Amino acid sequence: MQESKWQWLEAELQSLRERNLYRTFKVLEGAQSAHVSWQGRQMLMLASNAYLDMCNDPEVKNFAAQVLLGYGAGSGGSRLTTGTCDMHVRLEENLARFKEREAAIVFNTGFAANSGIIPALCPSADDVIFSDELNHASIIDGCRQSPAQTIIYRHNDMDDLAQKIQAVSFSGHGLIVSDAVFSMDGDIVNLPELLRLAEQHNLLTMLDEAHATGVIGATGHGVEEHFGLPRRVDVLMGTMSKALGAEGGYVCGSQQLIDYLRNKTRSYIFSTSLGPATLAAALRALQIIEAEPQRVARLQANVRWFCQCLREQGLGDRVPAGAATAIIPIHIGDEAQAVQVSERLLAAGYFISAIRYPTVKRGQAILRAALMSSHTEAELAQAAQAIAEAINSDNLVH
Ligand SMILES: Cc1ncc(COP(=O)(O)O)c(C=O)c1O
Repeated sequence: MQESKWQWLEAELQSLRERNLYRTFKVLEGAQSAHVSWQGRQMLMLASNAYLDMCNDPEVKNFAAQVLLGYGAGSGGSRLTTGTCDMHVRLEENLARFKEREAAIVFNTGFAANSGIIPALCPSADDVIFSDELNHASIIDGCRQSPAQTIIYRHNDMDDLAQKIQAVSFSGHGLIVSDAVFSMDGDIVNLPELLRLAEQHNLLTMLDEAHATGVIGATGHGVEEHFGLPRRVDVLMGTMSKALGAEGGYVCGSQQLIDYLRNKTRSYIFSTSLGPATLAAALRALQIIEAEPQRVARLQANVRWFCQCLREQGLGDRVPAGAATAIIPIHIGDEAQAVQVSERLLAAGYFISAIRYPTVKRGQAILRAALMSSHTEAELAQAAQAIAEAINSDNLVH
């Protein structure tokens, strides 16, 4: 008898289940915020990238609601064919100012930005891309869509990068691309050394500030502010989907770069643009960060406090020393144990995700705690205690 044409698919799903790699989602009943409702229960959210709690901010919501009523729901098409709404332009002007650049371009998602701009910037097989091994999947896909040779260097290892640059010769141009804050480990790129190598070898630099904007730098302006190296990165990419609490990706840079990307990036040209209310939400969130840098300071204080609480609970060897971003990875290792710990925490009222292969390496599962400026010290202290109890309980699977 002929095999069902879907048998391979069921086998694949079964294999994922057996390896504790099968993914499901949890349906939240209401807004994304520091407290969320799940199955009718109030939970402390420790898994959100909305680091400044902007998704549910009253000012953001009011402005987005007004714009929704005035401008309608959708954008109707691609910006180049259907028309750009003034909200696009205002947001791009504000992003460019915020990042001290001549111009900016907005994409529908961060993923669309990275996967589109890398092949646009490296369109020839004579080009070379140097990419950190822990870069986000959207950067990896961008590299795959470019005909350029992609050379992977060891994570944030500038000696390895230097050796790999020296070992290759190419006739096109070269690009170094890296997350500014790595999305799972929460560590920060070694920007001074990366820039030094780029200058020495005349390479373009591109940084992804998805988890840096609104988080690092004294006033949340990102990785250049963090290192005191303003206006040094050639292609400054970021997202509106994390600290800005909305959706979309962006690139800030010279007017020439932005004009080029507008004309050459397929994910920009051939996709219906973001709707006005989303753009408005991102714009107001950006204005709030400028006007209220104390929100960023509160987030950074929460990071220091939470790490101290984890250390006091005896978990110091499971978290990186000197964590300085809103992403705190708590090492578990075994995938099944990571799932079990996160399920225990869910039962105790804490929403925190177990991150497993292929997002991280096999056997290196983590709990990825993501903090918000609106978490209170008491909540974070209780969360650290609950995490320690869940990890230390003696009936974890082995
Ligand atoms: C470093 C990084 N870059 C890009 C993205 C993609 O952004 P978006 O979710 O807006 O598509 C993400 C997250 O999803 C990310 O963590």
